[in-house]
Amino acid sequence: MVSFTEIKASNALINGATAPRVAVFVGGTSGIGKLTIRALVETGTSTRIYLIGRKSSEENAQTFIQELSAINPKAEIVWIEGEVSLLAETKRVCQVIKSKESRVDLLFLTTGYAPFGPRVETTEGIEIVQSLEYYTRILFVYHLLSLLNKVEAPRVVSVLGGGLEKTAIDLDDLDLKKPGNFGGIKAQMQYMAMNTTTLEKLASENPDITFIHSWPGWVSTGNVRRGRDPNSWMAWIVRVFLEPIITLFSFNDEESAQRHLFQSTSAAFGGRGVPWKGTPGVNSLQQQANGLFLVNYKCGCTPNAKAMAILREKAQEKIWDHTQEVLRPYL
Ligand SMILES: NC(=O)c1ccc[n+]([C@@H]2O[C@H](COP(=O)([O-])OP(=O)(O)OC[C@H]3O[C@@H](n4cnc5c(N)ncnc54)[C@H](OP(=O)(O)O)[C@@H]3O)[C@@H](O)[C@H]2O)c1
Repeated sequence: MVSFTEIKASNALINGATAPRVAVFVGGTSGIGKLTIRALVETGTSTRIYLIGRKSSEENAQTFIQELSAINPKAEIVWIEGEVSLLAETKRVCQVIKSKESRVDLLFLTTGYAPFGPRVETTEGIEIVQSLEYYTRILFVYHLLSLLNKVEAPRVVSVLGGGLEKTAIDLDDLDLKKPGNFGGIKAQMQYMAMNTTTLEKLASENPDITFIHSWPGWVSTGNVRRGRDPNSWMAWIVRVFLEPIITLFSFNDEESAQRHLFQSTSAAFGGRGVPWKGTPGVNSLQQQANGLFLVNYKCGCTPNAKAMAILREKAQEKIWDHTQEVLRPYL
């Protein structure tokens, strides 16, 4: 656990040398991604941020960009419109970034929501939350690996449920396509485990990149309202019962923002970044070395050793092979 005081002290040390010079935020149009962008810009450092989002969010994003420019004129925010639930669009957006940049220091991924509504597929035939929380996130990583590997302290942060992996995932139907096989909790467990096992494999193949799978705890972003008909009884239950509880027990926006900025910059995870004198974080292999870090809402590393040992033995290779198959046309 890292106290909020320690987090703020670390973030106060972010300077021109340690701030990400080029950062890509996918999901930065709302919630934790947006909060983290603001916290990064407030450091006053010179940074270029690519903000990727869908057309319907462009107007709000432009207002946000104006606000950020007023906070820190040295920060440059580049808006790229893209339908990030689609793999083809993800590839196109990455090509735009690659045509403009020779480096990426930080890739910050937050798209998605709890898949508690009915199963809905994208035009590419993938369940939409799985596409947002897993496939397009991994495709962003793949496409930007070459630029991430160009810098001294590259980092990928995927915000979902690091440390919460369970072993009971469906290896025979990884995309939960079989009739009757899709359900909210099952899907969430599946997508978290897929994130972790694939990020761990990518970390082993890219030892210079620090990978973080973060579990943010509760943050009152309106995320629970997504993905369901606002007039349904379930939406009503969420609004009347769940949201007030979430709001009561949530991190406030500022703490969540600072905690995710810390995860994006501190040497606590892998040794590179803003100097860290506290206990070094341990990676998913329980080593004090670079790799994949499963980081909880208090910024503690939770390797989830028992579940991970089983997932490594029984699931990792299958998930990896299946993911390659799905992503191959878009690589
Ligand atoms: N907040 C929490 O308490 C909490 C807890 C545990 C895990 N998580 C997970 O952590 C991640 C970040 O959470 P958050 O609270 O920051 O989420 P959020 O505020 O709801 O933001 C989610 C992002 O996903 C994008 N998105 C949602 N549906 C989309 C769609 N159909 N097509 C394209 N983009 C879409 C949103 O874009 P627009 O701005 O265009 O809508 C937004 O940028 C999510 O995966 C969430 O499930 C959150």
